[in-house]
Amino acid sequence: MRHFLKETDFSIEEAAEVFTLAKSYKNDRFNTPPALARQSWGLLFYKSSTRTRVSFEVGVNEMGGFPIVLNSQQTQLGRGETVADSARVLSRYLHGLVIRTFGHDIVEGFAQHASMPIINGLTDFLHPCQIYTDLLTLLERWSPAGSIDIACLKGKKIAFLGDTASNMANSWILGAAMFGMEISLAGPAGFEPSSAIDAQLKADGLAVNYQFTTDAAAAVKDADALYTDVWVSMGDEDEAAERKRVMAPYSVTTELLSQANSDAYFMHCLPAHSGEEVTQEVLDSPQSIIFDEAENRLHTQKAIMAKLVELSSKV
Ligand code: CP
Ligand code: NVA
Repeated sequence: MRHFLKETDFSIEEAAEVFTLAKSYKNDRFNTPPALARQSWGLLFYKSSTRTRVSFEVGVNEMGGFPIVLNSQQTQLGRGETVADSARVLSRYLHGLVIRTFGHDIVEGFAQHASMPIINGLTDFLHPCQIYTDLLTLLERWSPAGSIDIACLKGKKIAFLGDTASNMANSWILGAAMFGMEISLAGPAGFEPSSAIDAQLKADGLAVNYQFTTDAAAAVKDADALYTDVWVSMGDEDEAAERKRVMAPYSVTTELLSQANSDAYFMHCLPAHSGEEVTQEVLDSPQSIIFDEAENRLHTQKAIMAKLVELSSKV
């Protein structure tokens, strides 16, 4: 059984196939082969969501499957049924399960006990569906016209600003290492990427390739894309005031964007807090590709599901 809990759960070759498949789905959206025909997929949420929920629900439907959205608090998980038992029970009904939750150990627990593909729809540690989507969004721009070529990611530089210890920062570190990109992260002291992401790189045989700095200007120099995310992630609400205070110098402004390469893109997984991690002027600028990212969640996740179904039927 194959799962997608982290970027490196697909090999480079498989990931390249996912991007190509996603682009083909995008080019002819309503003729997607019914890879999930007669299947039911669960979408289990312990946290809020707009993009992940709607794009997966629409995507399962467009592939001929039936999506079932579950709020964890309204299931017996919310009353203490174990992850192991829930995974075994849900596997008797469903053909796949997308989970958005807090601890990464929860998605790992589901994967350990499920007999269907599990997809990480965001944990406190990683958000791999978003990174694959963001990479497709860049590949559409950097590949020669009409193609998707992962070699075009090699050597490109991402600058990540703000909450450099977040799930998005971790996922970018892992994604950049996997595809040979450079990444510089600028955030406040105390928000250095954790030893957990270094351990993940090591476990995947990837070099620790990122630079962390407290100097936003240094990180964006020569960058091909600037990326930011909310300063207060889901679960961090108690620290909101302090986070907004220490992260203020890392707000992506027109002035900061102008210090990157002149053809650099501005990216954000959304939702954005305009006036905090990014100004409205940057969100609305021609360099901003935020809504293409949001759209590409749909096409990319359809490809991830199709690939998992294909690979899981072989094992
Ligand atoms: N980017 C993202 O995952 O958005 P949602 O929280 O709306 O799903
Ligand atoms: N870092 C954010 C991402 C939201 C898509 C969070 O975890 O809330």
